[in-house]
Amino acid sequence: MRTPANPIEQSFELAASRGVDLTPVVYQRLFSEHPETRTMFRTHGSELVMGSMLALTIEAILDFAADRSGRFRLIACEVASHDAYGTPRELFIAFFAVIRDTLRDLLGDQWSRDIAQAWEKLLVEIDAFAGIAA
Ligand code: HEM
Repeated sequence: MRTPANPIEQSFELAASRGVDLTPVVYQRLFSEHPETRTMFRTHGSELVMGSMLALTIEAILDFAADRSGRFRLIACEVASHDAYGTPRELFIAFFAVIRDTLRDLLGDQWSRDIAQAWEKLLVEIDAFAGIAA
């Protein structure tokens, strides 16, 4: 039997049930809140890289929020590789908050207290985790 979704998983499921493609909305928000990121992605093929980066980040978040079976480790690996892309750690971490804020705006009334608290806790934990990895 499938274990019930935790609030983080629920927030993604609720967004998915609205049939919204998260990629354009997340990157619109990233580029508007952190304009310096606009020019960080390559000119050719950036849609693929950006789509893949978001998909892998979401997988890592879901694993981090659940049983931490393995995919969450991507966060630690990427702190180091993003150093090489010239992405400062604060900005790297900001991507998670951009995802949270995008979901919050999309869900509106469905953004429950449980979901809000779970995200707040998750962001603090990821910050600490990435700090250790850096
Ligand atoms: C605002 C924060 C971030 C910025 C500005 C950023 C920037 C970038 C850039 C410029 C690339 C492309 C490098 C290339 O052209 O080959 C990239 C790739 C990637 N990023 Fe990020 N990144 C951010 C946050 C994250 C986070 C939080 C994760 C996951 C924990 C992540 C995971 C990845 C992965 C897996 C790739 C490779 C995608 C692929 O080619 O399949 N990034 N990122």
